Amino acid sequence: MLKLPGLIDPHVHVREPGQTHKENWDTVTQSALAGGVTMLLAMPNTKPPIFDNSTLGMALSAAKSKARCDYAQFIGAGPDNAEAVASIASRSAGLKMYLDSTFGELRLDDMSLWMPHFANFPKDLPIVLHSESRTMAAGILFAAIYDRPVHIAHISLKEEVLLIKAAKERGIKVTCEVCPHHLFLTQDPTGFGNLLGLTPGRKEVRPRLATQKDVDALWENLDVIDCFATDHAPHTLAEKDSENPPPGFPGVETLLPLLLTAVDLRRLTLNDLIQKSVLNPRKIFNLPEQPETWVEVDENAEYEIKASDLHSRCGWSPFEGWKVKGRVTRVVLRGREAFKDGKILVEQGYGKNVRQ
Ligand code: NCD
Ligand code: ZN
Repeated sequence: MLKLPGLIDPHVHVREPGQTHKENWDTVTQSALAGGVTMLLAMPNTKPPIFDNSTLGMALSAAKSKARCDYAQFIGAGPDNAEAVASIASRSAGLKMYLDSTFGELRLDDMSLWMPHFANFPKDLPIVLHSESRTMAAGILFAAIYDRPVHIAHISLKEEVLLIKAAKERGIKVTCEVCPHHLFLTQDPTGFGNLLGLTPGRKEVRPRLATQKDVDALWENLDVIDCFATDHAPHTLAEKDSENPPPGFPGVETLLPLLLTAVDLRRLTLNDLIQKSVLNPRKIFNLPEQPETWVEVDENAEYEIKASDLHSRCGWSPFEGWKVKGRVTRVVLRGREAFKDGKILVEQGYGKNVRQ
C-alpha cells in the first residue's frame, strides 16, 4: 500500500450554477474523492458566470450544501468588473481570465480590458490565464510589466513550455499547469494515445490536442511545469455527439491512475507527482494544508478505465478502455474516511470552502 497526501486539482469545471445536467457540486466532488483529489479549485464559466459578489454567493452556497471534498471558487474577469473582483478576491481561489475563445461567455479580446485586472487584483493570488500560443506570450509580458504572478492554464505546445522556461529564467513570475490529456493524447491519428474510435465531437477540447512533437517537449521539460491539473470539463454524450459539440474532457477521477501509471513506466517520479499535484498548487494558490488527510493506493492493481465506474454525471471518458496501474482504495479527509473500496462515505456538505 502506498500512502500519498490528498491531491489538489486546481482546474475543475463544476457546472453549477446553471448546467447541472452535465455535473454538479455533489457529483464532481464524488468523482474527485474517488480519484484521490481532496481539494479542487472551481472555474467560473458557469451559467451565469461567477463574476461578482452575488454570483460568487450563488456558487458558494451550492458548494456549501453539496460538496463532499474541500474547494475554492475562481471568479472570472469581465470587461467592467476589475474593481468588483478585486474587492472579493480574498473569498476566491483567484482570478480567471479567458484570453482565447472557449466554452462559455467570459472572454476578453481587447488588451485594454486586461489592464485594470492586472493593476487591481491582489498580488498574493495569481491571475490564471486561458491563453494559448502568442496570447500566452502577451500574458507573460503583462506579468512582467505589472510585476505580478500569472499562472498559465493547460499548456499544450512546445513553444509554450519553451517560452515559460525562458521567462522563469529571467525571473518573471509565471507558473503553469499541464493536463493529463495533453501529456497522454495527441491529434496524430496513428499514434498511441490517438483516440481512434472516438467520434469527432468527443475529441473536441480546448486547447486542442497537439502533435507528438509538442507532447514530447512537455515530457522533456517537465521540470518547467509546476502543476498537474485536469481541466475536468464534463459535457454529456448527447452534447458531445451533437452537430455542435462543446469542447472539453472529464478527468478529475482519472488523473491519479494515469499519473501512477506514468510513475510505473518511469516517465515520472513519485516525488514529481507530489510536487505537482500537492505542494506546488498549495504554494501557488496559497492554499491551507489539510490536516489528517491522505490517499491510500494499491500500486499493483491493474485495471481498465471504464466510464461506468466513474462518478461524474457526464457518463464518458476519453480514456475509456485504457489499462492503468494504481487504484485508489481509501481516502481520509480531515480525519474522516471519505472513500473506501469504491464507496463514497462522507455526506454532501462535508467539503469545506478553504477561503473561509
Ligand atoms: C472548458 C469547458 O468546457 O468549460 N472546455 C475545454 O475544452 N477545456 C472550457 C475551458 O476550460 O476552456
Ligand atoms: Zn478549463
